[in-house]
Amino acid sequence: MGIHFGADYNPEQWPEEVWEADLRLMKQAHVTLVTAGIFSWARAEPRPGAYDFDWFDRVMDGLGGAGVRVCLATMTASPPPWLTRAHPEVLPQGPDGQRRWPGGRQHYCPSSPVYREHAVRLVKRLAARYAGHPALALWHVGNEYGCHTRQCYCDVSAADFRDWLRARYGSVERLNDAWSTAFWSQAYTDFEEVLPPRTAPTFPNPAQQLDYLRFSDDALRRCYLAERDVLARLSPSVPVTTNLMPFHKPVDAFAWSRDMDMMALDFYQDPFDPGTHLTAAYTFDLMRSARGGQPWLLLEQAPGAVNWRSRNGPKPPGAMRLWSWQAVAQGADAVLYFQWRQSRGGAEKFHSAVVPHAGTDTRIFREVSELGRELASVPEIAGTRVARPTAALVTDWDSWRALELDSHPSTALRLPELALGHYRPLFEAGVACDVVPPDRDLSGYRLVVVPNLYLLTERAAERLTAYVRGGGHLLVSFFSGVVDACDRVHPGGCPGPLRSLLGLRVEEFWPLDEGATVGVRGVAAVRRPGGPGRAEAAAGAWELPSGTADLWSEAILLEGAEPVARFADGELAGSPAVTRHGYGTGTVTYVGTRLEPALMRALMDGVRAAAGVRPVLAGLPEGVQATVREGDGGRFLFLLNHGARAADITLPCPMADALAGARGERSEHTYRIALPARGVAVLKDPRRAVSASG
Ligand code: GLA
Repeated sequence: MGIHFGADYNPEQWPEEVWEADLRLMKQAHVTLVTAGIFSWARAEPRPGAYDFDWFDRVMDGLGGAGVRVCLATMTASPPPWLTRAHPEVLPQGPDGQRRWPGGRQHYCPSSPVYREHAVRLVKRLAARYAGHPALALWHVGNEYGCHTRQCYCDVSAADFRDWLRARYGSVERLNDAWSTAFWSQAYTDFEEVLPPRTAPTFPNPAQQLDYLRFSDDALRRCYLAERDVLARLSPSVPVTTNLMPFHKPVDAFAWSRDMDMMALDFYQDPFDPGTHLTAAYTFDLMRSARGGQPWLLLEQAPGAVNWRSRNGPKPPGAMRLWSWQAVAQGADAVLYFQWRQSRGGAEKFHSAVVPHAGTDTRIFREVSELGRELASVPEIAGTRVARPTAALVTDWDSWRALELDSHPSTALRLPELALGHYRPLFEAGVACDVVPPDRDLSGYRLVVVPNLYLLTERAAERLTAYVRGGGHLLVSFFSGVVDACDRVHPGGCPGPLRSLLGLRVEEFWPLDEGATVGVRGVAAVRRPGGPGRAEAAAGAWELPSGTADLWSEAILLEGAEPVARFADGELAGSPAVTRHGYGTGTVTYVGTRLEPALMRALMDGVRAAAGVRPVLAGLPEGVQATVREGDGGRFLFLLNHGARAADITLPCPMADALAGARGERSEHTYRIALPARGVAVLKDPRRAVSASG
C-alpha cells in the first residue's frame, strides 16, 4: 500500500463545510493516512458518560470515502474540564507540591485510577464503534506520553510508588539496602514512610530518584497498556502504537517497544540547528533498531516552523523534503505532519500546517503535495528494510537517568550530547548503525560503541565481555561501569565489572572546568598484543594524531591495556587518555576524555577500519548520507545531501532513478549523480541484497 503520507487531522476545530474542502485537498496532496481524534475527548464525551460520535462517524466515513485511511487516536490525551472539575485529584502535582491546573493538556496524574477508568471507558466505546470501520488502519493510544507530565508527585502517585516498591523489593530492609539509607539517617521502618522525591532542602536520595523515574515510566506505560489491552480485545486485527519523542528520558523506548505493534516517532527538526539531521539520524536508527529493523512510522513532523522554541525557523525550500526522505531512507514507512490545517486560535496557531492560514497557493502546500506525489510513485519501498548494519551504538535509559542525577563529579555530562558525540563520527564516515540497549545479543555486530555507560548491571557487563571475547570490537568511553542498578558504586570503583575487559582501572575522576581543554598526544602505531589481527593487518595499524579534549579526564592505571594516547598537559600530563586492550579474540578501546570532534573521528575511523566496518558507499562527499533498503520490493540506494554544496557521486554500478516517474521523466540508468544542496536521490540498485556495510 506504499509509504503512508498525511497529517494529524483535527476536524473538531472547524465547521463541517471545511471538512469537504479538506477531503478534496487531501487528494490533491496525495494524503493516504491521517491521525484523527487525538484531542477529541471533550467533543466525543461532552458530559460524563454521554457520548457523541455522530460527527466523528461523518469524519471517518468522509475520509474512508476519499480513500484516506485513519490512524485513530484514543482521544485520551487531554481530559475534558468536567472530569477535572468532578475529580480534581486527577490533576498532577509537581515535586514542589504545586498542582498543574487544567487549561493546557496532559493534565492528568499517570497513577490516577479515576483518569484511567474514564479513559478506558471511552476507549471501549471507540473500539466497539470503529473496530470494523473500513478506514481504520491503526490505533494511536494517548499522545506523546510524558511530554508535559513526566512525573507526578501527588499523594495518589505516592501510594502507587509504595506499591511499586513493595513489588520490587519485597521488604523494607531490602529497600533500605538498595537506597543506601544508612546515609543521612534515611532508614525506613515501614513502606508507608516512603514518599516520592519531592523538593527537599538538598539533594534527595539518588537511588530514590532513579526508582522514581523508573516507576513514573511504568505508570505512564500502565496508562498506555490499559488502553492497548481494550483495543487488543475489541479490535484484535488492527495494530496499536503510540507516538514517542526523541531523546525523551521519561519514556524508555526499548521497554515500550515490546508493547507496541509498530514503533512510531514525532520528530521536529530545528532549521536553526546545523546538526538537526544528525539528531534525527540517531533517533531514526533507534526507532528502527528497537523492533529489530521493522519499518517504523514518522507520525509527526512540521511542514515548516514550529511554535514552541524561543525562535522558530521555517524549513527553507527543500529541507522538509530532504528530512522526510531521510526518515524513509532510515526505515520509515510513514511520513506524517502535525497538523493538516493550521489552527486559527489556540496555543498552536503559529505552528505550521499542511494547509497554512495563507491557503494552498503557498510554498508549504506545494512542497508537501510534491513530496506526496514522489512517495506515491515508489510504493514498492514500503516494507523493505534497511540493510543490516555491522556497527551498533549502545543506549540505555537506566544509565542515562542515573548519569544525569545531581551531586556527581560534573553535572555537564548529558547523555544526548555524549551519545551524539559518538554517533557523529560513524554518521560522517557513512557507516550504517543500529542503536541498541546493552543487554541485547551483540554478536552480529563487528563494532559496538558504548558511550558513557555510568550504570552497568552484571548482566550487561557479561554481554559486553562475551561480545569481545568472541571477537567483537568494542569502544567504551569514560565514566562507564561506575554504579550498579541501585546507583551504588561498584566495588573497587570504576570501571567495575569491566575492569578485566578494559585492562585498566580508574583511580580518580578529574572533570574539567567549563571551557577548559587539555592536550592529547597520540602514541605511535598501536598494535594488538601479539601482533596485528587479520582485519588490522588489512587496515594497517592505526595511530591517533594529537589534539585537544574537554569536559572530562581521569587518572587511568593500566592493567594490561596499552595507551593509544596520553594527556599532553594539565595535572594528568603523561598518563593514558585513550587505551586499547586485546581480550579473547576481540579488542576494546577505552576513551578517558571527550576528544575534540576531529580526533574522535580519527579514533573511530581507526577502530572501525580495524573491525572491518565499511561505509555504505565508499568515497561519499562530505555531508552526503547514503542508506540502503532492501526486500521484496527491490533494493534501493538513498542519497541525501545535508551539506551546503552540490555533490558529485559515483555509483558502484549503473542504477535507475526511482523518482524519475514522479517528475514525468523516463528513468535512465546512470553511474554519476549530481546532487544539489538539500538534494535527494532514490536509486534502484540492480544488485542482489548484500550487506550494506559488510
Ligand atoms: C507534539 C504534539 C502535537 C503538537 C506538536 C507541535 O508533537 O503531539 O499535538 O503539539 O507537538 O509541534
